[in-house]
Amino acid sequence: MGTITLAEGISWVGIVDWNLRDFHGYVTRRGTTYNAYLIQDEKTALIDTVKHTFSNELLHNICAITDPAKIDYIIINHVEMDHSSALPTIAQYAKNATIIASERGKEAITEHYGNEFRIKTVKTGDELKLGKRTLRFVEAPMLHWPDSMFTYIVEDKILMPNDAFGQHLASAQRFDDEVDAHVLMEEAATYYANILMPLAPLITRKIQEVVQMGIAPAVIAPSHGVIWRANPSKIIQAYLNWSSGVAKQKVVIVYDTMWGSTDKMARAIAEGVASEAVEVKVLKMRASDLTEAITEILDAKAVIVGSPTLNNQMFPTISAFLTYATGLKPKGKLWAFFGSYGWGGGAVKSMTETARKSGFQVEEAGIEVKYVPDAEDLQKCFGFGKQIAAKIKA
Ligand code: FEO
Repeated sequence: MGTITLAEGISWVGIVDWNLRDFHGYVTRRGTTYNAYLIQDEKTALIDTVKHTFSNELLHNICAITDPAKIDYIIINHVEMDHSSALPTIAQYAKNATIIASERGKEAITEHYGNEFRIKTVKTGDELKLGKRTLRFVEAPMLHWPDSMFTYIVEDKILMPNDAFGQHLASAQRFDDEVDAHVLMEEAATYYANILMPLAPLITRKIQEVVQMGIAPAVIAPSHGVIWRANPSKIIQAYLNWSSGVAKQKVVIVYDTMWGSTDKMARAIAEGVASEAVEVKVLKMRASDLTEAITEILDAKAVIVGSPTLNNQMFPTISAFLTYATGLKPKGKLWAFFGSYGWGGGAVKSMTETARKSGFQVEEAGIEVKYVPDAEDLQKCFGFGKQIAAKIKA
């Protein structure tokens, strides 16, 4: 893709991974990018690297600007392999470079790649003078790993927060004002929901801490997707909303079905929700994926989950969904359950127990139907959907 200039002496030297469709289980239907940045001043600094499969391309991009041997510092904001696994290759060429990382970053680099590197650790508030420019570091543990930190270029007001504010979005364009605004926010929301959602309290606190440090970025240059230069406050506000659980009058119905009974119930429940003029999304888990389901839930006030009973348990796709959802801990949702069974039952009970154990707010009674729902059962399902919709409106 070549290099792109952010400001005089600051270049994007990253990689566009057009064909990535699975990022450790996250369905990346629009690919991704691994962003790395090169700063040339009296000293030269590389901010992050890329996934190892693109090591040579990163090297090529650096060489188009400078001799890698001139790199004085390699800042590793985060050691997850999509950002650091090109380090061993780059370090062979950047023989004079000192690696800059948090204390936990140093540990993680050593545990991933051995102890052959010269590493200087930094903590929040530490600064590194490159010449006219100053790098200021902010530790951001758990955004996304314990090692994570942000790098701020003080004079240019450019924040490089690594995973935070990213999007899995491959494009030939590098800036927010060059891509479709709807697609951008959709991918930013998908990224937040699937990567950062369980860290919501930390996000709110970190944004407040950054503001208190006097950091007011004019540009936010994350490690995935496009760079926020037109309106960085838009993504900051979106993160504040998502992390505080702001949601709309919307219900998501997630279900699966064996012989169609739970499917009929899901449709009747959806009609009940819609009868209250509340938005409803219906996702059958063998037709949808976990990435899509959790993204739909991000801005919903209620989630209604349905499963047939299989071997006295919930259906495996629903078990996978609940495992994923309870790990990501969507905030402030009302959860309700429904399902069908042939003889013993068990799906609604096991779904309800799973949600309660995870601390979710659960609607008192679920709804269960034996074999095939008749007209009366479907009327009850309609009423169930209507009741949940009325509750979130209230
Ligand atoms: Fe993009 Fe946590 O790595």
